[in-house]
Amino acid sequence: MRKKSDSTFYITTPIYYVNAEPHIGHAYSTIVADVIARFYRLAGFDTFFLTGTDEHGDKVVEAAEKAGETVASYVDRISKIFRETWPKLNITNDYFIRTTDKNHIDTVSEILSEVYTRGEIYFSEYEGKYCVGCERFYTDTELVDERCPIHMTEPKLISEENYFFRMSNYQDWLLDYLGKNPDFIRPERYKNEVLAFLREPLEDLCISRPKKRLSWGIPLPFDNNYVTYVWFDALINYISALGYPNGEPFKKYWPVAQHIIAKDILKPHGIFWPCMLKAAGIEPYQHLNVHGYWNVDTGKMSKSLGNIVKPMDLAAEYGLDAFRYFLLRDMVFGLDSDFSEKSLINRLNSDLANDLGNLVSRSTKMIVAYFDGRLPALGTLQEEDIFLKEAALRVIEEYKVEMEGFVFHKALISVWELIGKINKYIDTMKPWVMAKSADKARLGTVLNSISEGIKIVSVLLWPFMPQTAEKIQEQFGLGEGGLKLSLDALKEWGKTRPVIPISMAPALFPRVTFEKEQEVREMSSIVSIEEFRKLDLRVGTIKRAEAIIGSEKLLKLTVDIGEERTIVAGLATHYKIEDLPKQQVVVLSNLKPVKLMGIESQGMILAVDDERGVYLITPDGTSKPGSSIK
Ligand code: MSP
Repeated sequence: MRKKSDSTFYITTPIYYVNAEPHIGHAYSTIVADVIARFYRLAGFDTFFLTGTDEHGDKVVEAAEKAGETVASYVDRISKIFRETWPKLNITNDYFIRTTDKNHIDTVSEILSEVYTRGEIYFSEYEGKYCVGCERFYTDTELVDERCPIHMTEPKLISEENYFFRMSNYQDWLLDYLGKNPDFIRPERYKNEVLAFLREPLEDLCISRPKKRLSWGIPLPFDNNYVTYVWFDALINYISALGYPNGEPFKKYWPVAQHIIAKDILKPHGIFWPCMLKAAGIEPYQHLNVHGYWNVDTGKMSKSLGNIVKPMDLAAEYGLDAFRYFLLRDMVFGLDSDFSEKSLINRLNSDLANDLGNLVSRSTKMIVAYFDGRLPALGTLQEEDIFLKEAALRVIEEYKVEMEGFVFHKALISVWELIGKINKYIDTMKPWVMAKSADKARLGTVLNSISEGIKIVSVLLWPFMPQTAEKIQEQFGLGEGGLKLSLDALKEWGKTRPVIPISMAPALFPRVTFEKEQEVREMSSIVSIEEFRKLDLRVGTIKRAEAIIGSEKLLKLTVDIGEERTIVAGLATHYKIEDLPKQQVVVLSNLKPVKLMGIESQGMILAVDDERGVYLITPDGTSKPGSSIK
């Protein structure tokens, strides 16, 4: 087992392709990295946090062409959008790497030369199925219905001479390493996925592209006719950014490196990268932390579906901290989550405005009303006060364990348990009743205990909601301008503080109004007349129906809708093929064509689907094919 450092910490996000602008998925990984970096800084670690952009490869060239720009100016423009988005989300990366940076290019060349000299790279012919979306070859067993499982597109068959990395040489080593370091890849489900890959023989990795096919890449130092395949280029960013091999940051941070990625790039990070490092004589990273996918409308986000969720829009609408909190609280790190604005509003109104916001405002109000805003001293603790103190100190420990294990939703649940306990303490102690009695000292102890609890809450929340935490700390006289205390300092309950008057401040989280809630609810289920009018529904007559080899459910139909269309429909288990020709049907004719079982389907046939089965919808009486349905 590798030893953990108790003084340094290094965290990375994936470097994002510059073929699209940042969306909620990129924001999630980057905010997670920020939360963990801030947590380690709070715990007194010397921390380095890296993010950046991945700028080589087919995908980027395609995107630049589409945008009508030169590749160089296109990558500059999109990379800048990423770099400028992060500070707006309060991301505190220490460095931003671009794979087009000179020092990165030099490091890639250096590592390629090293691995080549060690005899671990060879030249050979290869034919394989390549997904441009993923920038990698797929084996047959990895494909689903012969399609890329991520992009659902058919891979291209590519045959060419290329350079290969002898990855197969490292299969046994990696299996052994995973056995000896059981939390190398976490959560466990992803370690198991990697182990499942390793049960099959590991193939050597194609690491080059001929320049005549792709010139936008880093040339191989031993053959100028080739450029480096994106993964052998991109993964190296994690060490080139640290100044590998001699840079101080490399020596200091690489031994404690932790990566954050989503499940889509598990294989390159869980298999290619450790093998590449081993081959170059470099220690593996410490942990790979893998999260799931944010889905929208229970499916993938995509430009063509127009359902891209933009982080800046949400932060502007609901407040940055509410957005950060929601992302970390609603997704169980490792599992997929369905994004919904409705749950964001619920979290904002209930956890933030109600639980946390009310606690802070009622407590400050009491200190202002009963002690003129000067925090009273902590007297002798009684049973209830000791109970609150011990619960709070326990939460700090639980929180630390969950944060170190990347179980963010549980860390937040612990903090909310503490918030609940402080609120309950207030309800039980009833300081407003105490204020009427003569025992001011006892009232002081109670209000001091409440503010000690709130101090702890503010510090534990700082990694997630830095602005809010700092506002609370300022309000409670704990300092101004970004003071965040340290995790260690929290153990000293009731420590005397500088006397800065506690002040009233506007509510931390304004509740989202009923009208806004209504609007979001309506937007998610009601279609406007303009949206409906976009649908082109027509009467069609089925001309031919044919079985599709390899599919039990789908049929290939030729339908006359005023013009002939091929439509692939899931009718095989509901209708006999011979009963379909001449049937009249309702066709959605302007649906974006998709390829199903290798056949382009140019529309959709509407049917009833109820407990009796699936039935076609037919006009009342014969209609002319192509008649419009309104
Ligand atoms: N350039 C490569 C990574 C190279 S790392 C050496 C790449 N880039 S990417 O732009 O496609 O980013 C993929 C990453 O973005 C995911 O691994 C994840 O961190 C984040 N996400 C993109 N979409 C996502 C969701 N829908 N949900 C959650 N995160 C996702 O792959």
